Order: sequence, then structure tokens, then C-alpha cells
Amino acid sequence: MPAGELPEGAVRGIDIGDLQLAAFNVAGAIHVTDNVCTHAYALLSEGFLEDNVIECPLHGGQFDVVTGKALCDPAECDLKVYPVRVEGGQVWVDLS
Ligand code: FES
Repeated sequence: MPAGELPEGAVRGIDIGDLQLAAFNVAGAIHVTDNVCTHAYALLSEGFLEDNVIECPLHGGQFDVVTGKALCDPAECDLKVYPVRVEGGQVWVDLS
């Protein structure tokens, strides 16, 4: 994904095969996590991003998109985060 397609403060869902990821631009830095909320089934890319916190659109659970940490009920399990690097204007995600 071109880094320029994700402006500061934006979130976007990215499907790679069966993997559903969410990419966030927090203060100019790109972060990637699983897109499906750990509480039930909702896509975090359809939620509300404020600074480094994404709020799930279904029940309002919140996660830190930098660390993946679940911040409030009903979200209890942390999100998986993926290492990211930006090279040549492209976002590269380490899925291993
Ligand atoms: Fe996300 Fe319930 S599905 S908080």
C-alpha cells in the first residue's frame, strides 16, 4: 500500500488473503494491527481513531493501535500488532 494513501489520523482496512488487517496513521507513523476486534466480530477500520486509540464501532471497546493493548471493557484481549516499515513510499508489513 502506498503510504501516501493513508493520511494522518486515518484508518483503513487491508485484506491479504484470509488476513484482515487495519492500518493506522498516528502522527505520521503507520501502524498495522488485526482488523477484527478481539471482543466479538466488528472491523476496527470502521471505528473511530483518536490519536493512538481506536474505538470499536460495535460495543465501544478501545485499543492502543501502537501496542495493541486493550484499554477498556468490553475489550479484554490485546490486538495483534505487526512490524511495519515504509520504504520508497510503500508500506511493508511483516506477517511472520
Ligand atoms: Fe468490539 Fe465488542 S466487538 S467491543
